[in-house]
Amino acid sequence: MSTSQPSYESYLQIQGLLSLQKPLSEPEAHDEMQFIIVHQVYELWFKLLLHEARATIGHLQKGHAGPAYWLLRRCIEITRVLIQQMHVMETMSPAKFLEFRDCLKPASGLQSAQFRALEFYSGMKDPRYLQLYPGDPANTGLLKEALHDASLWDGFVDLLHSRGFQVSDKEQQLHALVEVYGNERMLDLHQLAEAMIEYDEAFRIWRNRHYLMAERMIGFKPGTGVQHTDQMKMSGEDAFKDPGVNYLKGRTEHRFFPLLWEVRSRLGGGTYGA
Ligand code: HEM
Repeated sequence: MSTSQPSYESYLQIQGLLSLQKPLSEPEAHDEMQFIIVHQVYELWFKLLLHEARATIGHLQKGHAGPAYWLLRRCIEITRVLIQQMHVMETMSPAKFLEFRDCLKPASGLQSAQFRALEFYSGMKDPRYLQLYPGDPANTGLLKEALHDASLWDGFVDLLHSRGFQVSDKEQQLHALVEVYGNERMLDLHQLAEAMIEYDEAFRIWRNRHYLMAERMIGFKPGTGVQHTDQMKMSGEDAFKDPGVNYLKGRTEHRFFPLLWEVRSRLGGGTYGA
């Protein structure tokens, strides 16, 4: 343990943090600083979301519904901040963005490994994205781990199993959910399921929010990451056939916990309080 007492500066590593914003445009385009900082702040939130998602999965696997619920509430609130933050980006006009956009090509949010790892831990596992990191062992390692580790949904299914439910296939899982939603004595599971769908819903709102912001900013021009989506298209995957904003629109359909959405259509009379 260090003998010197920490100061605000030293504890939070402020000097290091503030030295990380390096605009590339020359002469410097005024709005590039905003663009860099907003993205970096997102990456910090992604780091915290990953930290909380992994811990939540651990609690679920141990059958601890309460602590899992507590941490999921934090994930929901962070995701709400992520949605709000898009407004800051929109204080930049499309013309101002064009002053420095060419400098950052072919970098793209598509390459955010933390975002992708978060999707994997949340249940949207798609190994095709590993193709984006050739010669990058750190990000390849992060994503391989996230691909193989249990997801939030896996953890929730484990929890249901520990409470005596049969959960070996989709039908059994849906059946368990119908029972959870209709049985007052399972309020903790019910609350947890609702927190999970709230997190999923917040992420769906983020995807929509980002897609709208991107269309407002660049219309249907190719995204800066077009060469990466092209590379993935060459691997024969149709999800990437339409890069840029159309790719983002396709992503708005995705969800982390499809069965939690599906069960709504199955609920009948008898749900307490309904
Ligand atoms: C001027 C602002 C922005 C524009 C015009 C924009 C545009 C785009 C486009 C067109 C894509 C699709 C890939 C491509 O063609 O490059 C994309 C992907 C992505 N962007 Fe942005 N973006 C902006 C800001 C942000 C910010 C602030 C974040 C926060 C981290 C972000 C995160 C992402 C992520 C995570 C993806 C991958 C989405 C997925 O695969 O579902 N973007 N962006």
